[in-house]
Amino acid sequence: MLIFKTVAEAQSACAQLRGEGRILGLVPTMGALHEGHLSLARAAKAECDIVAASIFVNPTQFGPNEDFSKYPRTFEQDCALLEGEGVEMIFAPTVDEMYPSGASTFVVVEGVSDRLDGASRPGHFRGVTTVVSKLFHIIGPHKAFFGQKDAAQVAVLRKMVRDLNFPLRLVVCPIVREDNGLAMSSRNRYLSERERQQALVLRRALEQVEKRASEGEMSSRTLMETARNVFASEPDVRIDYIAVVDPETLEDVPNVRDGALVAVAAFVGTTRLIDNILL
Ligand code: PAJ
Repeated sequence: MLIFKTVAEAQSACAQLRGEGRILGLVPTMGALHEGHLSLARAAKAECDIVAASIFVNPTQFGPNEDFSKYPRTFEQDCALLEGEGVEMIFAPTVDEMYPSGASTFVVVEGVSDRLDGASRPGHFRGVTTVVSKLFHIIGPHKAFFGQKDAAQVAVLRKMVRDLNFPLRLVVCPIVREDNGLAMSSRNRYLSERERQQALVLRRALEQVEKRASEGEMSSRTLMETARNVFASEPDVRIDYIAVVDPETLEDVPNVRDGALVAVAAFVGTTRLIDNILL
């Protein structure tokens, strides 16, 4: 497995592979890898000749009071896990390599970037779209793999790929969960044992919404109320948002007759967790 730390090395190696006709897959990550990330690597291996994963804790997508400095960094272990999946290449630049001093160009997808997590975390998606654009230019993948876990990120990136004519296909993989239903996340490491139990309320709320919808309840307002009632069973968990939206535009929908994304975000202690289902 090759590990590239510089843009120049990664870019020229990938250009050569593309020139040889190999199909390149990219799995962008911030490291602290778990089964969710590894499921993306496996999907990429199944669909591509060569798989590159990036490991970069991207400062531009963190707000000033967020967890950039304490975000878990487990590089050696991450490399071993990716090697175990047969990933051929890791791109792991430093912050200075990705954002040399004076860099002042950003990619902004207007509208959709201001909804859901974008509303709670101003500037977050500007950081995501900027770094993912850069990764697309550096690696030049034919296919890029993302998780449905970050449903709003998927909506923003789909629009970016379309609007900026990136010549690649986004592949979205299902949410990987712990046995107890908790969606896997690098941030789950922050949770105490008690908080892990409390965090299950996100999944329980979504399951209840799914059940009510399958019984015929179509009103978004009623379904959000259902979720809110489940959250009431864990008063220490603070809801950030409960939303029933169009999965592409992230705009509210009044009913779920044509399908909808039901997304929740909540603080368990100081840790912000997200989860969602597609109806
Ligand atoms: P990160 O949080 O490390 O996630 C990397 C990828 O793994 C994302 O596409 C995310 O949706 C996916 N993922 C995380 N948990 C998952 C789970 N439980 N099941 C399935 N997929 C899961 O998302 C980012 O990094 C960054 O914003 C990034 C795209 C790398 C840009 O910096």
